[in-house]
Amino acid sequence: MTLADETRAALEKVLHEQRQRGRLERFGFTPVHRLLLSGPPGTGKSMTAAALAKELGLPLFTIRLDGLISRFMGETASKLRLVFDAAAQTRAVYLFDEFDALGADRANGNDVGEARRILNSFLLFLDQAPAESLVVAATNHRRLLDGALFRRFDLAIVYGQPSAEQSIEVLQRRLAAMDTSGVAWGCLAALTEQLSHAELVKAAEAAAKRAILGGSDTIDADQLRGALNERHLLRHA
Ligand SMILES: Nc1ncnc2c1ncn2[C@@H]1O[C@H](COP(=O)(O)OP(=O)(O)OP(=O)(O)O)[C@@H](O)[C@H]1O
Ligand SMILES: [Mg+2]
Repeated sequence: MTLADETRAALEKVLHEQRQRGRLERFGFTPVHRLLLSGPPGTGKSMTAAALAKELGLPLFTIRLDGLISRFMGETASKLRLVFDAAAQTRAVYLFDEFDALGADRANGNDVGEARRILNSFLLFLDQAPAESLVVAATNHRRLLDGALFRRFDLAIVYGQPSAEQSIEVLQRRLAAMDTSGVAWGCLAALTEQLSHAELVKAAEAAAKRAILGGSDTIDADQLRGALNERHLLRHA
């Protein structure tokens, strides 16, 4: 993944503490195991949960809270309880996606009593979450979250749009299998502005596929420029 240095350092710390948790626990300390990831779409929050699972050799379970809450309003608390019970049994990475759906603001207009119950059961879950599993909550709207929720996390990581340098790195990594020796990368920097990591990956893939199906393994700057422009057009469509 292409990450900001401090984000990479924070994630390395999580891995290190998890791998060395026995040593910490012997002295009565628990490893970091409750993470809150926030930031705009396509910047690597879900990918981070998958990468942590892979690094630790653990399965990844994803719970989409927006879907759970709108579909099962009325029985969400008991559905969540099933997830929490499973989490107590099985060491894994649990990704709670669209986490802001739990935020108190969103509950307005819905059954307030039920929303409270859901929030309370989640708070209890976070307090009791076993330290050998990772609980990862991801959200685009950190501001919607309740302060009581915030305090329960061991670590909060903020994701952002890539810098010009990171944008070029995302393109280069996705095009590693292609010949890009003729591309003057610096000239593309302006065109990567405002695109997320996900959009950059899509642009790189589009350019590569076009070249491959045209019978070539070479990408030139014009092809990349075209693909990046298409992403900008889609963005404003
Ligand atoms: N930091 C990154 N480095 C490299 N590729 C990335 C990065 N972030 C995102 N991508 C690419 O974009 C795709 C989507 O990213 P991901 O699902 O992690 O975004 P997200 O932050 O969870 O977005 P959302 O808020 O919409 O859920 C990834 O599968 C990957 O191809
Ligand atoms: Mg995501």
